[in-house]
Amino acid sequence: MTLHPEDQPWQPKSFAFTEANLAQAHKIIKRYPEGRQQSAVMPILDIVQRQEGWVSLAAMNLVGEMLDMAPMRVYEVATFYTMFHLKPVGKVHVQVCTNVPCQLRGSDDVVHACKKELGIGIGETTADGKFSLAEVECLGACVNAPVIWIGDDFYEDLDAGSTVKMIEAFKRGETPKAGSQTGRQTSAPAGGPTTLKDAGPTTLKGDA
Ligand code: FES
Repeated sequence: MTLHPEDQPWQPKSFAFTEANLAQAHKIIKRYPEGRQQSAVMPILDIVQRQEGWVSLAAMNLVGEMLDMAPMRVYEVATFYTMFHLKPVGKVHVQVCTNVPCQLRGSDDVVHACKKELGIGIGETTADGKFSLAEVECLGACVNAPVIWIGDDFYEDLDAGSTVKMIEAFKRGETPKAGSQTGRQTSAPAGGPTTLKDAGPTTLKGDA
């Protein structure tokens, strides 16, 4: 992806943290020893993204100044990690995993349901700016494949029907319950846990 602002008319001229976010950024910087402040780059980029929904060039330049880093070093971090959005995305950014385990468990149907329900393709945003759709690599939750990542939540064990229901809830302004959409307990077998079914002893031998 090019980072020349002239090729990206959506780039703002400047960026400023809110007062609360600036205070939070300084608090994070103080966690690191003198001379190691650059280690704060990822959590501070995360603050930027939570504030704006994405990470602009102006924001990366400011983060570089705050951490005494060359802007290129900040760009290198932001472009390496795909969780940083380098252009505006929808308020509800729907990231569908289509890696092998999710594909074997039906992610093609999930992608199709998202496209149909949202009326957009991969990499696109709805006209009202509310939803955007992206295809992502393994989210590390294959045991509950197929998986969609929205905000800080994973929606798991999806099929076309549950994907449509989930999107409809977001359209109504609700935040549907995250996790397994089939109701299974975390990643236990579909029929329920087969081991560790009792609560176990409340005290260990030698306690008390
Ligand atoms: S392949 Fe989709 S979560 Fe791992």
